[in-house]
Amino acid sequence: MQPQITVLDAGGQYCHLIARKVRELGVYAEVAASETPAAALAGRKGIIISGGPSSVYDSGSPTIDPALLAAGIPVLGICYGQQLIAHMLGGTVSKGERGEYGFAQLDLAGEETIFLGVSGRQQVWMSHRDLVTVPPAGFDVLARTDTCPVAAMGSAAQKIFGVQFHPEVAHTPSGKTILSNFLFEICGCEKDWDPAGQILAVEEHIRQVAAHRNIFFFVSGGVDSTVAYTLCLKALGPERVHGTYVDTGMMREGETEFVRENFARLGARAFQVVDARQDFLGALAGATEPERKRHIIGEKFVEVQEKILDSEHYLDGQWILGQGTIYPDTIESGGSAKADLIKTHHNRVEGIQKLIEAGRIIEPLTQFYKDEVRAIGRQLGLAPELLERHPFPGPGLAIRCLCTDEIAAPQRTGNGWIIPVSSVGVQGDSRTYKPVLALDAPPSSEEDAAAIINSRTDVNRIVGTAVTCRPMSALRIAPAHLTADRMDRLRRVDAIVRNLCVNSGFEKEIWQFPVVLIPLGIPARPDSVVLRPVDSVDGMTARAVRIPAELLGTMTRMLMEVEGIAGVFYDLTNKPPGTIEWE
Ligand code: XMP
Repeated sequence: MQPQITVLDAGGQYCHLIARKVRELGVYAEVAASETPAAALAGRKGIIISGGPSSVYDSGSPTIDPALLAAGIPVLGICYGQQLIAHMLGGTVSKGERGEYGFAQLDLAGEETIFLGVSGRQQVWMSHRDLVTVPPAGFDVLARTDTCPVAAMGSAAQKIFGVQFHPEVAHTPSGKTILSNFLFEICGCEKDWDPAGQILAVEEHIRQVAAHRNIFFFVSGGVDSTVAYTLCLKALGPERVHGTYVDTGMMREGETEFVRENFARLGARAFQVVDARQDFLGALAGATEPERKRHIIGEKFVEVQEKILDSEHYLDGQWILGQGTIYPDTIESGGSAKADLIKTHHNRVEGIQKLIEAGRIIEPLTQFYKDEVRAIGRQLGLAPELLERHPFPGPGLAIRCLCTDEIAAPQRTGNGWIIPVSSVGVQGDSRTYKPVLALDAPPSSEEDAAAIINSRTDVNRIVGTAVTCRPMSALRIAPAHLTADRMDRLRRVDAIVRNLCVNSGFEKEIWQFPVVLIPLGIPARPDSVVLRPVDSVDGMTARAVRIPAELLGTMTRMLMEVEGIAGVFYDLTNKPPGTIEWE
């Protein structure tokens, strides 16, 4: 489909969110690099320039083709996008002294235009350092906040607008109205987008690409590969679509049965589960370093997949590979922080690489965002338990089972204990690997928690202590590896947490909930559990979510009844400086 709106990516984490919001309003939008030439954007009804972390004064900061601002095509700049418009058209952008992050009150000041139907004071979400202080000639100031003299600006004649705040986030309640005004009042867009309405066209596309050939999938049990598989199944029938699920032994409780039942319900006839549990456990024996564990798992995947390609003759000319790749994965700027790692095991299989190079691949979902894949899945009749699942990392529970070769005791510090077990974090663009601070009592607010972690360089996370079976001084970090026993223990505690979350409705309030095993305890109870519920948009950044007291109480009680569990902690660290996963 030809997009009506293109979102030019100025490096912001919210770029895809903008395109998703536009699509939610029924208008097909795509994301493109900010420097895309105007000629390549001919036919668009409007352009949106996203936010981004740069300053217009940085050398090499993202810019746009100046012709776009003279083409008569409507343009909306968001955050950095507004600053860029002001900078290019002769307004003034000033370096912010202290920046503005979080909620602000917006006062409307000018013509309605993009604020049609929005009145009075508005709560908006800000995240910026630089700001526009003088709009370009011919532009009106449309809104201001206490700290931002040009919180929105526009030239109705040129149809160019800018907002310093983020209309695409839920924290800006009038954001949807503002975007809708831009699309329908300013750009004259028409509603042309309904992902579930695309199903027949996608099926037709699958038939064309496949032609006389059959399709095989390596499925993960996740939403994307299952929906992609189902579309192929509908397009070609059960005889021509094969699926293989590799049971690595690193999956959650009941996962293999869940996947098997789901595929049976879909009418998949050629679906096989390959039991590779012993292979993976054997290869991981003795490994402690997180990247090494990931590497071993990646290698094993390659080996197992190669065996399957060979034994099933999938490299023969009559087969093509199906994959559940979705839209953000197809664009350089998109995807998750771990995009490289996530893909390693697919990329490195030589046979698969050859199929991709030969164009023998079908990816029916490359046009869609996750929510849209879910909408398609609902239309196809897939089970809600499957469609609403939280993201789950490819290497599975293995990365959530922390290992060590050392013996060490927690160290008292101020109002807590340093637990000498290192976990991965991220600061700036770098990976950190540092111990954890367990506080005696949780900080009273999110800001206090952030202040504590920001004041220290010796740890990259802080956790609250729900319970320990002995005083902290009596607990030890002791040598522990990825054994069948520990994986079973982790599976059990993960299942307990998951069931409680589903039953209490807490699951719907969060984006993901890793449950982690750390080797802290006493000989009879060698491991402790860390609870890591987070809220996020795309996994790139995340906020630690507090578990409601009653739920945490029940969880803690049940977890302490599990064999081998010495304590329960809950992570209070945002990403950054923590990552979502402990590894
Ligand atoms: P981090 O820990 O980097 O995780 O904050 C961000 C998001 O990425 C997921 N993740 C992975 N997903 N394969 C995946 O499919 C992987 O190897 C992988 N590693 C991390 C993580 O669960 C979170 O949602």
